[in-house]
Amino acid sequence: MNPTATMNMPIADAMGRLGTETAFEVLARARALEAQGRDIVHLEIGEPDFDTPKHIIAEAHKALDAGFTHYGPSAGLPELREAIAAHVVKTRGVPTDAAQVVVVPGAKPVMFYGMMATVNPGDEVIYPNPGFPIYESVIKYLGATPVALPLQESKEFRFDLADLKSRINERTKMIVVNTPQNPTGGVLTKDDIAGIVELVRGRNIWVLSDEIYSDLLYDGDHVSLYAQAGMPEQSILLDGFSKTYAMTGWRLGYGVMPKELAVHVARLATNCNSCVTSFVQRAGIAALTGPRGEVDAMKAEFHRRRDRIVTGLNAIPGMSCVKPHGAFYVFPNITKTGLTSEEMAKRCLDEAGVAVLSGTAFGVHGQGYLRLSYANSLPNIEKALDRLNTLCRSLTG
Ligand SMILES: Cc1ncc(COP(=O)(O)O)c(C=O)c1O
Repeated sequence: MNPTATMNMPIADAMGRLGTETAFEVLARARALEAQGRDIVHLEIGEPDFDTPKHIIAEAHKALDAGFTHYGPSAGLPELREAIAAHVVKTRGVPTDAAQVVVVPGAKPVMFYGMMATVNPGDEVIYPNPGFPIYESVIKYLGATPVALPLQESKEFRFDLADLKSRINERTKMIVVNTPQNPTGGVLTKDDIAGIVELVRGRNIWVLSDEIYSDLLYDGDHVSLYAQAGMPEQSILLDGFSKTYAMTGWRLGYGVMPKELAVHVARLATNCNSCVTSFVQRAGIAALTGPRGEVDAMKAEFHRRRDRIVTGLNAIPGMSCVKPHGAFYVFPNITKTGLTSEEMAKRCLDEAGVAVLSGTAFGVHGQGYLRLSYANSLPNIEKALDRLNTLCRSLTG
């Protein structure tokens, strides 16, 4: 058999409904250009460019030597679940039991498992748009109906509570909220959070509160939707280690939810990944309980980069950029260049050697924008700004 021949075997219908994350495709195209000798600045991928703090790595070595190389319980090692529960008590101020915690490989499976365990075909799920593309992908895969909640540039990429209210009906099964937000860096206010709580509390509507960027906030304090009165009873808190501790490749995340739901989510883990790598879980305890110096230094550096990239983008003809309050993304408006987001993203890579994402990689309401990740060094950000400036000058004449 010729292994390169086109396959005639059938693929499941549901695969036609499953989306993807464009960042990985753009990264592959950028790497292909690099292989041809081009110099590319990478502003496409959402991962800290820093190394994992040393004490976390040391703990993983120690755990390997101590024999943490076996299967563990599907919901996570008891000592890590305890540490996560204590962390949630400390950071969110709500009583939390280890039985509410499920440890998963990266935070992403909290979306998949969380929705699988709560959403039926035909249900409606409200989600932010532009937003992390996996929400819409999983909603569609499950045969549920994605209901986009548009984020507005004029509101620093928050949504209108009236828009949320008008989308809630008897078919609404879940609302996904993400603050600080990917791809815009937008952060919900205390009033926004209070408004959401008023709309959903006590109703049969689950909340998936994606708070993975809660430590990467540059102005003000994180307001946790999960922590509001009544919310832990009907919410799944999504959090993890990838962003705060520069641990993307370790694949370690967790969900916190009512313990009755946690049993189902853990059963999905049993069916799929069995458990998370045992020595990685031990390193997770060191991350949560160890020194915060390197984490604070990373955050201070992201803060400097945010200020530089926002100022730089606003000086480029055809671009304007709202200053985001959190995460490590900017979402500049490029409508004045006269190009679509897809065309602009392609020209940034092909002509300027700057890998960025089209705003539409995050949903239809991302048209007219690009997403740039500033998880790259200041010299590289300067280089990218120079190159984008030259490209935009040629576009806008
Ligand atoms: C909003 C949001 N939630 C969740 C995740 C998933 O994180 P992890 O890499 O831990 O799966 C990401 C990663 O980019 C994200 O941007």
